[in-house]
Amino acid sequence: MYAANQVLDQCDSTNTVAKELAEAGFPHGTWVSSRVQNLGRGRLGREWKSLEGNLFLSLIATVEKKTLWSWIPLTTAVGTVRLLRRLYPDLDIRVKWPNDIWLRSAKLGGILCEASPFSTPPYIIIGLGLNCAHSPEGLDQEAIDLTQAQGGRLITADHVREKVISSILDEIDRLELNGPQTIIESYASWAAYPAGTEVKWTASQSSNQEEYSGTIQGLGPSGELQVTTSQNETVSLFAEDIKIKNC
Ligand code: BTN
Repeated sequence: MYAANQVLDQCDSTNTVAKELAEAGFPHGTWVSSRVQNLGRGRLGREWKSLEGNLFLSLIATVEKKTLWSWIPLTTAVGTVRLLRRLYPDLDIRVKWPNDIWLRSAKLGGILCEASPFSTPPYIIIGLGLNCAHSPEGLDQEAIDLTQAQGGRLITADHVREKVISSILDEIDRLELNGPQTIIESYASWAAYPAGTEVKWTASQSSNQEEYSGTIQGLGPSGELQVTTSQNETVSLFAEDIKIKNC
């Protein structure tokens, strides 16, 4: 009945299936994937277009230390990028804070983490969408896929799924053992927008949709992005979408 550690033909959202598994008591590391999602969800309430051939994957993570939870999105991005850089060494795949996978200024993948801190045990559902065979069109930013980036040599979800799962779980193990230091170092090497980059963003909590800008300083103690504004004020971003200032 349950879909633990399986690739489904279709579902609405693998995050929803994984949540059901977590509520039914399935442990840390349990995963579910689907060839197609009918109602794939992205960050900030967006739709995630889910074309067959791309990877749609959700994992259950039960990380005991709650102080590490805010690092899980970036840890997932770093774990995914670590693997992809190893598999495709010719591609300069990067992490775009807070948790996008980025290649040549275009989106290769995205991560949606959903926490249930009051369940027993508390858990986080980590959802990863990776463009393997297709680049979804009609998004508010350019997309790219591994097949296109590799000059048309077909790469599908089946080629990468198991390795991605292991790499993300290894990265979470490292986070639990050593704290965020490795993530901080890897992020510094692979950041799409490194320290010193001038960026702009729209406040996600604000109703007035005002645009702000500043210069990236680096990561704060919870994995937040610290940015200095032109008034020399340092602000912390927790989930905002950032863009290059002059684009
Ligand atoms: C983003 O907006 O960048 C995050 C996209 C996350 C998409 C993945 S696909 C697997 C999982 N199931 C969902 O419905 N969403 C996530």
